[in-house]
Amino acid sequence: MSTIVVLEGDGIGPEIVSATRRVVDALGVGIAWDVRPAGEAGYRPVPGEAAETAFGTPMPKETIAAIRECGVALKGPLTTGVAKGYRSLNVLLRQELGLYANVRPARTLAGVAGPLKGDPAVDLVIVRENTEDLYIGRERVEGDTAIAEKVITKQASRRAAIFAFELAKQHGYPRVTTVHKANILKETDGLFLNESQRVAERYPDIAHDDMIADNVMQQLVRDPASFSVLLCPNFLGDLLSDLTATLTWNGIGLGPSGQYGKDVAVFEAIHGTAPTIAGKNLANPTALMLSAVMLLEHIGETDARPDEPFGRAAARMRRAIERVYAETDIRTSDLGGSATTTEFTDAVVAHLT
Ligand code: NAI
Repeated sequence: MSTIVVLEGDGIGPEIVSATRRVVDALGVGIAWDVRPAGEAGYRPVPGEAAETAFGTPMPKETIAAIRECGVALKGPLTTGVAKGYRSLNVLLRQELGLYANVRPARTLAGVAGPLKGDPAVDLVIVRENTEDLYIGRERVEGDTAIAEKVITKQASRRAAIFAFELAKQHGYPRVTTVHKANILKETDGLFLNESQRVAERYPDIAHDDMIADNVMQQLVRDPASFSVLLCPNFLGDLLSDLTATLTWNGIGLGPSGQYGKDVAVFEAIHGTAPTIAGKNLANPTALMLSAVMLLEHIGETDARPDEPFGRAAARMRRAIERVYAETDIRTSDLGGSATTTEFTDAVVAHLT
C-alpha cells in the first residue's frame, strides 16, 4: 500500500481530483489517499467549529508536513490571492518543499487536433527551474519606480540542468536546449546558461544547444517536433509551457506537470481553477489524470518493491486515456464535445485493460 497526499484544490479542483482518484483506484494497485486541506478549504473556518480550531490559513503547516513525510502528492489547482499574506500558494509550496524542477511534458494525443497546419507530432518536455528568478517575489516601489529582483544562483541552475539531462537520458530524448535571454540579461541568464553548458559536458551522448527565448518561440510555432527537452529559467519556463500546451492540444486543459525536490514530488495540471465552470461537471480531467500517470511512474521508479506494479499501472492508465481520445468521440466541452467530467471518466475506466 502506497500513500499519496491529496490537495483537492479550488474551483474545478475537487471534481478533477475525484475523477482522477476513480481511475487510479480502478487500477487496483493499492493506493491510500490522505486528503489534506489547502486553498479555500484550508482557509475557511470549519463549519460548526470554534474559530481557533479552524485552519485559518490557505496552506496549513500540517498539510506541508504531511507532503514532506509522505514524499508524494496529487494537487488540484489553487486560487491565487485567497489570503492577503501570501503572494501565491503554489510558490509557497514550491519553496517550502524545495520543489526545484518543474517538468511539463507536451505530447501529441491521437484524436486531439492541434492548431498547426499538418498537425505535427509533438513530444517535448519543459524542465523549468522552479525556485528562483523573478518569482522569488522581491518587488518594491521606490518613488515612481517599481523594481523586481531577478535572482539566479549557480546551485539552483546546476541542479535544474542535471535534472534535465538525467530526464533526457532516462526517457531517451536526444537533445537538451537551454532557453535564455543571456543576450540582454548577461549576468543572470548568462549564469544559467554557463551552468547548463558545464553540466552538458558530463553527458556526451545527449546533444546540447542553447537558444534565445524569442527564437525558441518562433521555432516552436514553425517546427515543434524538432524539440526534445527545453531547459528554462523559471519565468521563461512558465511562459513557454502554456505555448507548448496550446501548440500540442490547442488548449491548456490537457497539460500535466510534476514538480520534483530532493525527496518529495507534487503532481498537478498546468491549468488553474477554471472558476466559471466549477461545480458543473464540465471540467476536462485529462491534465490531472496525466499528472497522476507521472506520479505513478515516479512511485514506480522510487519504489523498492521488485515487482514495480506502479510503473505498469502508469502505462495502463496512460493507454486508457490515449484510447478514449483515439477510439471514441467522447470529449468534454473545452474540446468541442458534450461529455461531462463523469462521462469522460467512465470512458477512461472502461478502457483500462
Ligand atoms: P485557468 O487555467 O483556470 O482557466 C483558463 C481557461 O481554461 C478558462 O477558460 C477555463 O475555463 C479553461 N480551463 C482550464 N482548465 C480547464 C479544464 N480542466 N477543463 C476545461 N476547461 C478548462 O486560468 P485562470 O482563469 O487564469 O486562473 C483561474 C485561477 O486559477 C486563478 O486564481 C489562478 O491564480 C489559478 N491558477 C492556479 C494554478 C495552480 O494552482 N497550479 C495554475 C494556474 C492558475
